[in-house]
Amino acid sequence: MSDSDDDVPRLSADTLAALQEFYNETSHPDAPTAASADKFSVGAVGEDWGMSQFWYDDVTATRLAEEVIQEAGDGGRIACVSAPSVYQKLKQGVVEGSDRISAVLLEYDRRFAAYGDDFLFYDYNHPLALPAALQGAFDIVLVDPPYLALECLSKITQTVKYLSKGKVLLCTGAIMEEHAEELLGLRRCGFLPKHNKNLANEFRCFTSYDSRLLSC
Ligand SMILES: C[S@@+](CC[C@H](N)C(=O)[O-])C[C@H]1O[C@@H](n2cnc3c(N)ncnc32)[C@H](O)[C@@H]1O
Repeated sequence: MSDSDDDVPRLSADTLAALQEFYNETSHPDAPTAASADKFSVGAVGEDWGMSQFWYDDVTATRLAEEVIQEAGDGGRIACVSAPSVYQKLKQGVVEGSDRISAVLLEYDRRFAAYGDDFLFYDYNHPLALPAALQGAFDIVLVDPPYLALECLSKITQTVKYLSKGKVLLCTGAIMEEHAEELLGLRRCGFLPKHNKNLANEFRCFTSYDSRLLSC
């Protein structure tokens, strides 16, 4: 606040700069807006490969949304960590039961801040920089880490354990299988997640529970 003697309250330069940054980011031309044909469609926000963004194809996003709805149960709470396509699919209103759950998106890419209170900025480098109210708050946590590296999965593991009541669904490269088991006690599913672009790495899903939907 200014300490001049007029009565007009002013923001400090730092606060103004932070606000400006916020406005710039939320009005990003690529951010989904209410005017978009379908602001929750997968791909409403374009992939930015610099942020390791590779979106699921529609079939995979739908299948994963069905899975977390089933596992969360009626009234369940779902956390999508670095997995915006599944969050979008849950909010699109096209998957049976999606009106009976609530979902939040923890994401590094601030373009998704356009989704309002459902969006929580998340950087895996600060895995526990999270609101206290979210501790143990989610019936299922679905996560798709940005990097196929032990360092990344180890940090994200702290986040997942913080958020979760127990059920975890991890989508990542098949090469992370041993780490997924050691860190989170997860087992590989038969289901093969697919992306809009063909990726060189084989991807898999890993769960902490017996998954009927993903086992075939
Ligand atoms: C491999 S993509 C997973 C996206 C998923 N396949 C989907 O379709 O929703 C990795 C995600 O991690 C996010 N990300 C990038 N850097 C991150 C960071 N430092 N902390 C947390 N998430 C990050 C990206 O924005 C992206 O959504």
